[in-house]
Amino acid sequence: MKIKVGVLFGGKSVEHEISVISAIQAMGYLNRDKYDVIPIYITKNNEFYVGEDIGKIEAYTDINTLIKNSQRIIMVNEGGKTQLIKYPQKMFSKGVVDYIDIAFPVVHGTNVEDGTLQGYLKMFNIPYVGCDVLSSAVGMDKYVMKTVLKDNGIPVLDCKCYTANLYDEDSEKIVDEIEKAIGYPVIVKPVNLGSSIGISKAENRAELFDSLDTAFHYATKVLVEAAVQNLKEINCSVLGDYETAEASECEEPVSSDKILTFAEKYIGDGSAKGAKGAKSGAKSSPSGSKGMATLKRKIPAEITPEQREEVRTMAVKAFKCLGCNGVSRIDFMMDTASGKIWLNEINTIPGSLSFYLWEPLGVKYSELLDKMISYALKREREDENITYTFDSNVLQGVKLGNGAKGTKR
Ligand SMILES: Nc1ncnc2c1ncn2[C@@H]1O[C@H](COP(=O)(O)OP(=O)(O)O)[C@@H](O)[C@H]1O
Ligand SMILES: [Mg+2]
Repeated sequence: MKIKVGVLFGGKSVEHEISVISAIQAMGYLNRDKYDVIPIYITKNNEFYVGEDIGKIEAYTDINTLIKNSQRIIMVNEGGKTQLIKYPQKMFSKGVVDYIDIAFPVVHGTNVEDGTLQGYLKMFNIPYVGCDVLSSAVGMDKYVMKTVLKDNGIPVLDCKCYTANLYDEDSEKIVDEIEKAIGYPVIVKPVNLGSSIGISKAENRAELFDSLDTAFHYATKVLVEAAVQNLKEINCSVLGDYETAEASECEEPVSSDKILTFAEKYIGDGSAKGAKGAKSGAKSSPSGSKGMATLKRKIPAEITPEQREEVRTMAVKAFKCLGCNGVSRIDFMMDTASGKIWLNEINTIPGSLSFYLWEPLGVKYSELLDKMISYALKREREDENITYTFDSNVLQGVKLGNGAKGTKR
């Protein structure tokens, strides 16, 4: 029997649209001899929809019509299966639309990729592809991630992290502290967003206030770190789990000295600032729709074999110590003058699932998806051996103070 894979995408995230692209691209490559694929679209209000057109990219030009022609569902754990049930339920109609054996989240950004969707799925006892709740959450918070990596001896830039209320209380004090600890130029970024949203560089005090204002517009926690000079960015994907993990080819996104913008990353707009004069390393993406695969990039990255190995080794180490699963993309920054390399961030569900970094090593996209599913099933088997109940008579004869109402004294 084929495995029923529910591919979940969209959701309440600023990277909603990118997720639609990544998911529909991936679904085109899931091996239909092995899997029945059920596309499940999560709207920006976090409502779940299935239907004929949900897996078609053209349908997303008019989302209102798509939703009107599709079926809203809720997931229910029934008899050991995760059923998709029509919502709201109509009298005299069959409630169960379908069921799924495994969930495959292809979501990007806060509110979905950060452990939220993973936690939701875990409540159904359903295996799901990719990072678990903790690694997704740690991977999403750039400050927490750096702290864990630092503790494991992986080089990351020192940083300062501030909350919005601290900034509101005394912004001058914060800016003084940054000037003393880091100096200019600095990079200011929201801790938990992606796609360069809210990130900017500040060269002086006035710009620093502007950058902090901008970043706090998007998040309540903001991170400040030194801007890497003579910047070369290198990304590397890792496939595996806490036990076995391997690194892909390295890529070099072409960014000049500017921050890669949202448009450059996803819309493939060669005219965008910072992409000017970039060599075209872009490939056409598999489904014909755009995705991370359209970004101007060099594959392999123009680095020495030693630097390539340094990046790949660090990527695998970081993946394992964060407890990742499936495929992640780990991004590095290098100062080309000193040759020093820092780990910048991890993307636990990377755009286009990083398939384009595996093809050069002979791993086809459909094989990559197969392996991701196998790792999820392995985790599920291991999890089944863990005891989650503990028989005790603790609840027998419990009396809560004076009462049946259970109020604390
Ligand atoms: N410390 C830094 N020095 C120089 N450039 C940086 C630094 N941090 C980020 N950038 C630039 O900003 C881009 C986005 O930052 P990143 O931390 O990767 O956030 P995102 O999650 O939005 O991709 C990077 O790809 C890089 O071009
Ligand atoms: Mg990045």
